[in-house]
Amino acid sequence: MRLKKKVVVITGGSKGLGKALASEFVKEGSVVVISARNRKELWNTARECRAIPFVADITKEQNIMSLAKFVKKRLGRIDVWVNNAGVTIPHSDIDGITSEAAHNVMEVNFFGTFYGLQAVIPIMKKQHHGTIVNIISMSALVGRPRSLMYSSSKWAARGLTEGIRMALKPKRISIIAVHPGGMKTTIFGKHLPQGYDDWMEPDFVAKKIIQNLKRAKPREEIVIHR
Ligand SMILES: NC(=O)c1ccc[n+]([C@@H]2O[C@H](COP(=O)([O-])OP(=O)(O)OC[C@H]3O[C@@H](n4cnc5c(N)ncnc54)[C@H](OP(=O)(O)O)[C@@H]3O)[C@@H](O)[C@H]2O)c1
Repeated sequence: MRLKKKVVVITGGSKGLGKALASEFVKEGSVVVISARNRKELWNTARECRAIPFVADITKEQNIMSLAKFVKKRLGRIDVWVNNAGVTIPHSDIDGITSEAAHNVMEVNFFGTFYGLQAVIPIMKKQHHGTIVNIISMSALVGRPRSLMYSSSKWAARGLTEGIRMALKPKRISIIAVHPGGMKTTIFGKHLPQGYDDWMEPDFVAKKIIQNLKRAKPREEIVIHR
C-alpha cells in the first residue's frame, strides 16, 4: 500500500509505540491524527510529529465516535485506523489483582478496540476501502501466569480481530493484527518487568509495521520481536 497522502488515525498516539508510528507515517507523507487523554502531552507530540491532535478517551464510546466524525469531516476519509491505545497492570498472582484494575485493563484494551472498530467500520464501508491495524501483543499468543488480565484482554482483542476480519473480507476492508514483544515504553510505570533493558525500542517496532503496510499485500498477522 502507498502511504503518501493517506489519512491515518492512531489512538494512544501521544507516546510509546503510538508516537513512534505517528512519526513514521508522517515521514511517509501520510496525514496523521493522533488521540489520547492527556491534552498537554498530546499537543506536544502533535507539534513534534506534525500530526493533528484530538483528545479522546478510548473507553468512552462517544469520544471515539467524535474522533472518527472529526476526521471524516476535516479530512474527508479514513484510510488507516490504528487501535493502539493500551494499558497494563503490574505483574502479580490472581489474588493480587483488584477487580477495579481487572475491569480497567479490559475496558481499555478490549472495549477500546471494540469502540474503535464500531466507529470506523461504517465509514470504511461507505468508502469501500480501508485498513485497520490492531496493536495486540505476543501476550495474546500464549498464557502468561503473572500477567493474567493483560494477557486475557489481548486474547479477547485477538478473537475480535479474527472474527471481524472474516466479516469484512468481502467489503475490501483489511484488518492487520500486530503482536509485538516487549518494548521500552512508559506503559509499565514504575513497575519495570524483568528484562526490560533488553526490550525493543518502539521506533524499531513502528518501522516493521510500516514496512508491512507498504507491501503490495500486507501480512494479516505479524509478530515482532528482537
Ligand atoms: N510496551 C510493551 O512492551 C508492549 C508489548 C506488546 C504490546 N503493547 C501494546 O502496544 C500498545 C501501545 O503501548 P505502549 O507500550 O506504547 O504504551 P504507552 O507508552 O503507555 O502509551 C499508551 C498510549 O495510550 C494512551 N491511552 C491509555 N489509556 C487510554 C485511554 N483510556 N484512552 C485513550 N488513550 C489512552 C496513552 O495516552 P493517555 O494516557 O494520555 O491517554 C498513550 O498515548 C498497547 O496496546 C500495548 O498493550 C505494548
